[in-house]
Amino acid sequence: MEKFVWYNPVRILFGRGECENAGRMVRQYANRILLHYGGGSIRASGIYKRITEALRKAGVDYIELGGVRPNPRLSLVREGIELCRREQIDFILAVGGGSVIDSAKAIATGVPYPGDVWDFYEGRALPEEALKIGVVLTIPAAGSESSDGTVLTNEEGMLKRSFCSPLCYPKFSILDPELCRSLPIHQIAAGGVDILAHIMERYFSPTAGNALSDHLCEGAMCTLIEQIPRVMADKNDLDAWEQVMWTGNVAHNGLLGKGNAEDWASHEIEHELSALYDIAHGAGLAVIFPAWMKYVWREHPDKFVCFARRVLGVMTDDQERAVEQAIEKLEEFFGGLGLAVRLSEINIDDRYFREMAEKACKGGRIGAFWELEPDDVEKIFYLAL
Ligand code: NZQ
Ligand code: ZN
Repeated sequence: MEKFVWYNPVRILFGRGECENAGRMVRQYANRILLHYGGGSIRASGIYKRITEALRKAGVDYIELGGVRPNPRLSLVREGIELCRREQIDFILAVGGGSVIDSAKAIATGVPYPGDVWDFYEGRALPEEALKIGVVLTIPAAGSESSDGTVLTNEEGMLKRSFCSPLCYPKFSILDPELCRSLPIHQIAAGGVDILAHIMERYFSPTAGNALSDHLCEGAMCTLIEQIPRVMADKNDLDAWEQVMWTGNVAHNGLLGKGNAEDWASHEIEHELSALYDIAHGAGLAVIFPAWMKYVWREHPDKFVCFARRVLGVMTDDQERAVEQAIEKLEEFFGGLGLAVRLSEINIDDRYFREMAEKACKGGRIGAFWELEPDDVEKIFYLAL
């Protein structure tokens, strides 16, 4: 096993109706806050009403900044930073998914920083202080509610970049499965793939002999594969939503990969796709992950055979056939969720493959299972075509 530090300070409030506690939780930190959210969904679903009532009840005053787009943008973050400085805000409540939470993390670290917040995403500086944030999660997917990471797109050059800092951990995250019932089918599917991908990035590791991590990941993947079809069949199935929401959190709170060298190449590659084509991150992963598997599996075939057997129930003794069948089954699963598994199905051709491959590897080789160079990434894009 690899050496590691385990630290995740996010307080989780989990369960039906927990969003009513948003005001009480915020009140422990501030009595005037920025309420940050996305497009129209929280108003249409009634979530906005429930949260603002909870804030009022707890005596919390708020100013608002909505309009975060999926694949959140730097320009709105800059607006948020100016707003918080002007209004002397020191707490942000993010109500939404990964995009809103990541935008809140960017604002929170940008406010006390004298330079430009994009410096953090380019690796030119690290935040030394930040406003506090809290989260009401409305979509199980990105796992940002428990992660120390934030991903942002700079419209100048359509660069999607990320950084991690312990200052990005929310003080608390509320996971209320009732809030998931209004999700559109495509977002449920994309979110499910992202959750699975967060587990697979940790599972497909060159580190051998980490049995606990293997079994935790396999259990989480089996749970997700069982439960996502249930919520897609019936969006009111709160029993199933509970399991999806908790799996989504555990998938990205850092625990599952402990002791492993984690991979993350598929994420790096996908971020180039969603930066350029503005597709949902999980939809991009449904195309990239199987292609990455086809390209790299021979490097550590045992791991793929375990995945085939224990997660997808493929029983053949022939190693090559087992891996092929597992990848086919995974693609069938993604297809069954209504997602494309080839770039051509979403009208993406090869014209920017080289450019995206070079951008993905701008900081050097990517991945741990197999360290990829631009030529490898370009070949993965062709396998995904
Ligand atoms: O904008 P609104 O109108 O709110 O609609 C959103 C959005 O269109 C909608 N939605 C969310 N909750 C809803 C709802 N619609 C109805 N009812 C609800 N309850 O869903 C759409 C997608 O929302 P978004 O926040 O973009 O989804 P997700 O959570 O998948 O976040 C994706 C972003 O997170 C980044 C991705 O790259 C992408 O930018 N990631 C962040 C990570 C992190 N910080 O740790 C890790 C991930 O790997 C990922 O890269
Ligand atoms: Zn992801």
